[in-house]
Amino acid sequence: MLQPGPIGIFDSGYGGLTILSQIRSLLPEYDYLYLGDNARTPYGTRSFEVVYEFTSQAVETLFEMGCQLVILACNTASAKALRSIQQLDLPKKEPQKRVLGIIRPTAEALDSLTQTRHVGILATAGTIKSQSYPLEIKKLYPDITVSGEACPMWVPLVENNEGQSEGADFFVKKHVDNLLQKDSEIDTIILGCTHYPLLYDKIRKYTPEHIKIVTQGEYVSRSLKDYLERHPQIDELCTRGGTCQFLTTESSDIFRQNASIFLDEPVKVRSISLK
Ligand code: DGL
Repeated sequence: MLQPGPIGIFDSGYGGLTILSQIRSLLPEYDYLYLGDNARTPYGTRSFEVVYEFTSQAVETLFEMGCQLVILACNTASAKALRSIQQLDLPKKEPQKRVLGIIRPTAEALDSLTQTRHVGILATAGTIKSQSYPLEIKKLYPDITVSGEACPMWVPLVENNEGQSEGADFFVKKHVDNLLQKDSEIDTIILGCTHYPLLYDKIRKYTPEHIKIVTQGEYVSRSLKDYLERHPQIDELCTRGGTCQFLTTESSDIFRQNASIFLDEPVKVRSISLK
């Protein structure tokens, strides 16, 4: 018999906090356990094998800590590791537990967002290379044209708390311009990396006003709510105490300091190592 536990939220670093905040505002009654692999971030430039290995370790750790449902609040992990975890690992090792990603719920939202049916994706090199967004979007809406642009400097800027610096403007403008040069009919841009909402103001500054910029938190949280309603047997495995705790692979002091930039509350964090 599985014991109910908190909902696990995983990201390579601080980016998943943008998803966690939105999930908690929509579903405040649940308990959450956030894990940031801050010591090994960024994942975006790593190989498929390495992202899969790191993500599997994180998921196993969250399972060991009592989570029965884990959300990969990281596009890179969702793009490169989710399928193998869902199709190969879980059926063998943990058939009753669930791991969900964030690419599908974002892709589903597009139908009502784009009028021109031309969409742009800004994401890590790994997510862009995996083609996960175009594949997922084509399955749902074959008439939508998708262009992608990898922004390898954006995560390091956020992780190093340089997102608001003047230096960040150069890299933000460069990639927004590149994307729009690929397709001038784009009317909707997905921020396909959970770190990018932390650069939102700068991205907005360099994007023409008529183009919508879509962050994922709202869609991921609504999709999780819907999932829990449709799967009462999983919902029953999620405890409701309204708490939120944090784990990091970096030092807890560094995490506490940096996370306070993204969250308006004191953070209870423990440092762990993944293997
Ligand atoms: N925040 C993650 C994502 O959504 C990964 C960033 C990284 O580690 O490169 O893609």
